[in-house]
Amino acid sequence: MEKLSGKKITAVLISGRGSNLRSLIKYSKTKKSLIRIVLVISDNFSAKGLNYANKSNINNIVIKYSNRKSFEDRLFKLLRRNNVDLICLAGFMKILSGKFIKKLNKTIINIHPSLLPKYKGLNTHNRAIQNKEKYSGATVHIVSDKLDSGKIILQKKVKITKSDSKKSLEKKVLKIEHKIYPKAIIKLLSSD
Ligand code: GRF
Repeated sequence: MEKLSGKKITAVLISGRGSNLRSLIKYSKTKKSLIRIVLVISDNFSAKGLNYANKSNINNIVIKYSNRKSFEDRLFKLLRRNNVDLICLAGFMKILSGKFIKKLNKTIINIHPSLLPKYKGLNTHNRAIQNKEKYSGATVHIVSDKLDSGKIILQKKVKITKSDSKKSLEKKVLKIEHKIYPKAIIKLLSSD
């Protein structure tokens, strides 16, 4: 049915707060949305973001992360069983192996709180402030087997002011993240 409507069957992977998940759910409920979120997966039982999935009646599952192989095996089966075509990482804190990405052979995208290729990995806001950067921002990119390194889909910058702290910068960037994640999906899927 869903394939007839042309919407991409989507899964969102989270580890925590889930504010990007919330923005993706909001987008998916709009009339012109190009995605249908069928599944939210967390590696963390106490991820607050699971509440957003529950509130919207989206099937959500926690896969305990004891080791990468068993996690990825279960994830693979779940994604296949649900015919998932697009996987959105939204604050998902585990690294997926190159083997998994290749075997799954679906589009996996991620949002990162920096102007990639600058500041890959964690602690981006602190590092940007310490390095006296004039700008920071957020990036949505294709997930490859190298951390935060796949093709960039969309990026937006924010100015770092002298009074910015790690917290205030995080807040500014997060606001942008919530806007660009849906936009990046539209961009990606419109060029399909
Ligand atoms: C975001 O800053 C995202 O870019 C990064 O982790 C944070 C997750 O926030 N990968 P949330 O869970 O979406 O609120």
